[in-house]
Amino acid sequence: MLKTTENQVPFAVTDPERIPTARYHDAEFYQAECDRLWPHVWQMACRLEQIPNVGDFIEYTNLGKSVIVVRAKDGVKAYHNACRHRGVPLAGEGAHGNCKREGFICPFHGWRWNIEGENTFVYGRHMFSEQQLDQADLALRVCRVETAAGCAFINHDDDAPGVRATIGPLLGNLEAHGSDDLRAEWWYATVLPANWKVAMEAFMEGYHVMRTHPQLQKTSPMLYNSMYGMDTGGIGALINPNMTIAENIASQIEHMRLLSDGMAGMLHAKELAIAETLGDVPLPEDPQQAVMMWFGIVGAEITRQLQAKGEPVPDLNAVAQSHPVKAVEFVFPHYFLLPFFSSMSSYRIRPLGPESCLFELWSLTMYPKGEEPPVPMEPTFLPYDSQEFPPIPRQDYANIPIQQKGVHASGFDFMRLSKTIEGMISNYNRIIDGHLGGVDKDKLARATHLLGGNFDGKILDLGF
Ligand code: FES
Ligand SMILES: [Fe+2]
Repeated sequence: MLKTTENQVPFAVTDPERIPTARYHDAEFYQAECDRLWPHVWQMACRLEQIPNVGDFIEYTNLGKSVIVVRAKDGVKAYHNACRHRGVPLAGEGAHGNCKREGFICPFHGWRWNIEGENTFVYGRHMFSEQQLDQADLALRVCRVETAAGCAFINHDDDAPGVRATIGPLLGNLEAHGSDDLRAEWWYATVLPANWKVAMEAFMEGYHVMRTHPQLQKTSPMLYNSMYGMDTGGIGALINPNMTIAENIASQIEHMRLLSDGMAGMLHAKELAIAETLGDVPLPEDPQQAVMMWFGIVGAEITRQLQAKGEPVPDLNAVAQSHPVKAVEFVFPHYFLLPFFSSMSSYRIRPLGPESCLFELWSLTMYPKGEEPPVPMEPTFLPYDSQEFPPIPRQDYANIPIQQKGVHASGFDFMRLSKTIEGMISNYNRIIDGHLGGVDKDKLARATHLLGGNFDGKILDLGF
């Protein structure tokens, strides 16, 4: 273990193509993250459909810091979850419900607060000195909260730039794709025996598809080989020149089917079903043009059919042009949305220790207004090797715990990254170092913007 002083970054990334492996297990590095990263970043605390009505609340905790997120009369508010008497949490871990009538009641001596955070009851007031019961001082301590992309984000740092100033245009792009209107159809959680960053980095490049998800590679070898296996500058080839147009379309549909079976929300079964009916639409003779046009037809038809059912789907082809997003979008430091057509998969990761993390996985889709199913308020916990996980995350989860073992190997001091397609892993690690090293907050926010749309992207100059 390395001893560091304030603003010194233990095991800093000094060569952007090399990530020191101690960052994934060293206790002091972990402590530096707890002290200097997590208290200053925007954390995804809940999905907004979990708190639709005034008084609805849900508890969010990370690294022992617990917050209550509540729908108050004039918007979403958050409070540090500690009774102003002797500190007992007002809401238990993962607690949720509606407190419009009762407010928050401390389980210890029964003091109460309303949803605006004002104290409404102290049992035996006469026993306390007057200055201990100052109304402003008794109010629940407010935690910063802002809403974006269908979520409430909290930040323990009162001086941090806002969530939109921090994450940048990505949030607006996701919102244009309808992220506010998504609803969870299921929500799973698992504990992975791995550092939280090892778990996240499994989703920051598609380079692993060839070996980890061979079923995807097999249906679209040209797509993946042209992105990763051949020197084509990373351009994904849509077509296989050795196949007819009809065969190309059939292989695209098969690829979609595997993505849908493998990831659920990322490419929803209802979207696949629409694409499957479009296997023989008339197309131009040029194969490249034909496949591009086919994707346009599929986007238009999914838009038309789902809108006709009353789903709040945007014009998918229009937003793909006006607000482009990548297949995996990372919202620093711990949240992902994976858009494809109108549905998305979503991940949130929280550290539980240097070598353990909580990984949550949502399938998000749209429903006709008024036909939304009940909102899941708690995740279904599964062991990480459970067969109940969809096949693609199951394949990813198989690598993560063994990679965690590998980072301990003698002589394995750093991971080496591709400068062209594993750049996101370097970029976000260096932003973490910026937080640990005390880089100016506005500079950090500007650098964080660069993470948006950079899946499979380059190592970037972060400006510090
Ligand atoms: S600790 Fe909450 S009322 Fe006493
Ligand atoms: Fe994967």
